[in-house]
Amino acid sequence: MKVDGKPYRTIWLREGDDRVVQVIDQLRLPHAFEIAELISVADMCRAIKNMTVRGAGLIGASAGFGMYLAALEAPEQDFHDFMRQAAADLKATRPTAANLAWAVERMLAAIAVGTTPAQKRRLARDAAVALADEDAEHFRHLGEHGMALIADIARRKPGKPVNILTHCNAGWLAFVDFGSATAPIYAAHEAGIPVHVWVDETRPRNQGASLTAWELGQHGVPHTLITDNAGGHLMQHGLVDMVITGADRVTRSGDVANKIGTYLKALAARDNGIPMYVALPSSTFDFSLGDGVASIPIEERGAEEVRFISGKASHGGIESVQICPDTTPARNWGFDVTPARLVTKLICERGICDANEAAIFALFPQEK
Ligand code: MRU
Repeated sequence: MKVDGKPYRTIWLREGDDRVVQVIDQLRLPHAFEIAELISVADMCRAIKNMTVRGAGLIGASAGFGMYLAALEAPEQDFHDFMRQAAADLKATRPTAANLAWAVERMLAAIAVGTTPAQKRRLARDAAVALADEDAEHFRHLGEHGMALIADIARRKPGKPVNILTHCNAGWLAFVDFGSATAPIYAAHEAGIPVHVWVDETRPRNQGASLTAWELGQHGVPHTLITDNAGGHLMQHGLVDMVITGADRVTRSGDVANKIGTYLKALAARDNGIPMYVALPSSTFDFSLGDGVASIPIEERGAEEVRFISGKASHGGIESVQICPDTTPARNWGFDVTPARLVTKLICERGICDANEAAIFALFPQEK
């Protein structure tokens, strides 16, 4: 996608020195657009944990490049053990997004084909680049499938914008390019279908306010920032035509783990007869799991993310301020699970399907 007219991905190898991975530093957005450089698997683990890079797809692509950096670092005589440890360290960074372990396993399989460390390093580089390219390509298809749903609503309200509510950031910043929930929105916008997006701020990290609002603004898509608690009210007043969110892990039965608060949006959407769509690439499915509420690991992050909020101060600098009494304890679950019964359809790169086991396996028969 373009930033100030220049095309960017969220992660890439530095031109002229492919031993360095460059990423858009998402801790600095929307106030500054800066590139961070990572040169070791420890750098990559840190970047995933502190959310310099974040979002299910980008976490997967970052894990791919993390394994490549590990291959560059691994000593000749200890190559195998070093790579095993790197894989374990990367997998331990953030537990919920299925893309992380999926990417690490894919890298291990790609590297296993090589017979010498030098060959394995080349294979690791190629596999990491291919994984990122694939991520970017998937969303062209997903965007086209999802756009049909938006076009359908647009036909029923000629001349008026389709109002879409989204939660968190499932845009191109959460992937390598294009994004999942935003792909249909960008496709519709480019096709001249009038759209307007309600952007949930998404406490505590405010990915909606900081990232989705920034992305949509860069792309010229009309949008309005709302508090996390406003969605139900807007739905009751006919101001939301559809909800589209992303996903961090979807079980074979169609249960959806996504950013904390998604479940409440799904409940409100059901109560108001509004369709709730979830957009995801195939790498976000966890076909091994059935009941998502019981089995999807939910990341719990530090209490300071709830107790403090950061933003741009009037003097222009970025500041963090405490929003509760000094001694107030807090808990911080990063994700929740929306049961399949509340999901109207899943939008994938292969097409659109109902959120149930039969429909999901009809789209992905090789996973049965
Ligand atoms: O905690 P984050 O910012 O990594 O959140 C993950 C997500 O990006 C969202 O839950 C998103 O909706 C999933 S789609 C990548």
